[in-house]
Amino acid sequence: MRLLRLFAAIFAAVGFMATVSFAQQSSPIIVYDTQFHPTLARNGMVVSQETYASKAGREILQRGGNAIDAAVATGFALAVTHPQAGNLGGGGFMMIYLKELDRVVALDYREMAPARAHRDMFLNDSGDVDKKRVRFTLKASGVPGTVMGLTEALTKYGTMPLAEVMAPAIRLAEEGFEMTWALSESLGRYAARLKADAESAKNYFKADGSIYEAGELFRQPDLAETLKAIAASGAKGFYEGPVADKLVAAMTAQGGLITHDDLKNYHAVEREPISGTYRGYKVVTMPPPSSGGVHIVQMLNVMEGWDMKGLGHNSAAYIHRMTETMKYAYADRSKYLGDPDFFDVPVAALTSKEYAGTVRAKINLEKATPSAEIAPAPSLPYESNDTTHFSVMDSAGNMVANTYTLNFTYGNGKSVPGAGFLLNNEMDDFSAKAGVPNAFGLLGGEANAIEPGKRPLSSMTPTLLFKNGEPYMATGSPGGSTIITVVLQAVMNVMEFDMNVQTAISVPRIHHQWYPDRLFLEPGHSIDTRRLLGQMGHQVKSGPTEAWDSVLGSAQSLIRDPETGLFMGAADPRRPGSYAAGY
Ligand code: GLY
Repeated sequence: MRLLRLFAAIFAAVGFMATVSFAQQSSPIIVYDTQFHPTLARNGMVVSQETYASKAGREILQRGGNAIDAAVATGFALAVTHPQAGNLGGGGFMMIYLKELDRVVALDYREMAPARAHRDMFLNDSGDVDKKRVRFTLKASGVPGTVMGLTEALTKYGTMPLAEVMAPAIRLAEEGFEMTWALSESLGRYAARLKADAESAKNYFKADGSIYEAGELFRQPDLAETLKAIAASGAKGFYEGPVADKLVAAMTAQGGLITHDDLKNYHAVEREPISGTYRGYKVVTMPPPSSGGVHIVQMLNVMEGWDMKGLGHNSAAYIHRMTETMKYAYADRSKYLGDPDFFDVPVAALTSKEYAGTVRAKINLEKATPSAEIAPAPSLPYESNDTTHFSVMDSAGNMVANTYTLNFTYGNGKSVPGAGFLLNNEMDDFSAKAGVPNAFGLLGGEANAIEPGKRPLSSMTPTLLFKNGEPYMATGSPGGSTIITVVLQAVMNVMEFDMNVQTAISVPRIHHQWYPDRLFLEPGHSIDTRRLLGQMGHQVKSGPTEAWDSVLGSAQSLIRDPETGLFMGAADPRRPGSYAAGY
């Protein structure tokens, strides 16, 4: 890091101005750094899961847009080029830092349960959860929030007209793009799910059912028309008019619940962000209905009471303490987290340093406590598998961390006929029955029970860091239940170990979520560490498992170095296609 800063300072001193090539290339000099090296840029950057989408955001930055303009462009472009999770038919969360106002906005555009949804709607005659109904039917879809979220962010905090910001996405859908290896491979892997729906088969495969190979032109004309309707009329172009008619017709024909009134009543919400501190850093993150922000701060508070750095990064002792901390957080998640508009989430208590002290005191530093012996706190002090994340920063100091999703990869696999987009299966993020795990193995109860108009509890955790009061890092990740622990490790690696952003998101990760009682280790942890953890009583496991892949998350992250002013982007190497586009 020191070397990197030194060379950056030398470049600045000699007036090094070759911006585009500088941004695109890894400097040959910094390979001598002892860390992985990030992508560098001088003026602004977008890091996302997909190359065309990162470039779409950069195009908007280069035309004078701010970070919010670029984020909205990237969000719409991902809906075209990364349909695994980029979407119009899903929802998400956007954290926005507005430098001029020194203000953070937490924009909740999570899906809402339709008015006709009810608590036991996914139980069969025997009272068991019908897994097919809750995951692969139109009943599984919540009212989509993405279009409202992106358009509202732009109207309130962007600087450019919607049509200009959406132009790259419309171009990618209408004129098409060269099929990427990443998307071709993914469509092949999910062919059965997508081809079960005639409209998805039409949208994502050739007329004879064969796959688009990498390099072939891939066009999405129906999606282009939907995007144009939004560009022309804003959110109304989606929630009303022909697109809404198509969505409601699909619901009527296929047993879904979403009505015109549900679409008209959909609203995004600006919520009070969750804030915490860790050794001089300020962490500002997403509040409920995300569970992630609360638990990131809760876990950081617990670990701040130990010398985590002194234990050594990813040593058995370090992983042990982090794992035990995770178990208590996920136990509390099962009881206390839900949509704050319906359930009184004890945010202040869960994120207080005092409560963290009581959790820390329960943790045995030598032995794993079996999950069966860990319960959510009986009371708290009184208090007054696929998703995608992108990070954007601009030269004015604005930051955006955005995570959005269809829930599963390609959502429920079903596309709205004639409209070119997939629908979410976010209703599975509710607790369909108390004590029965969802697809990510997560438990829940009353706080996250289904109610009309309610938003299902999420793990999505777009997060911003501030160092010495200055905007510093934007991060987040996909990964269902693992999102929270992935983001935790990304920020810990920066705040505790002073890793640069590329190193922080590349080193091996761990995950534990209380139930199942398994400590999941990514490849790259040593056999000695695994053995020591096993001796401490951990049920050590490596993937792939039924719930997640052999790697954890994909944390597209971005840091602005306050000393040099350089943007340092890190495209997560775990999944193909990710790209840091700066200039
Ligand atoms: N659908 C995954 C999440 O929101 O946590």
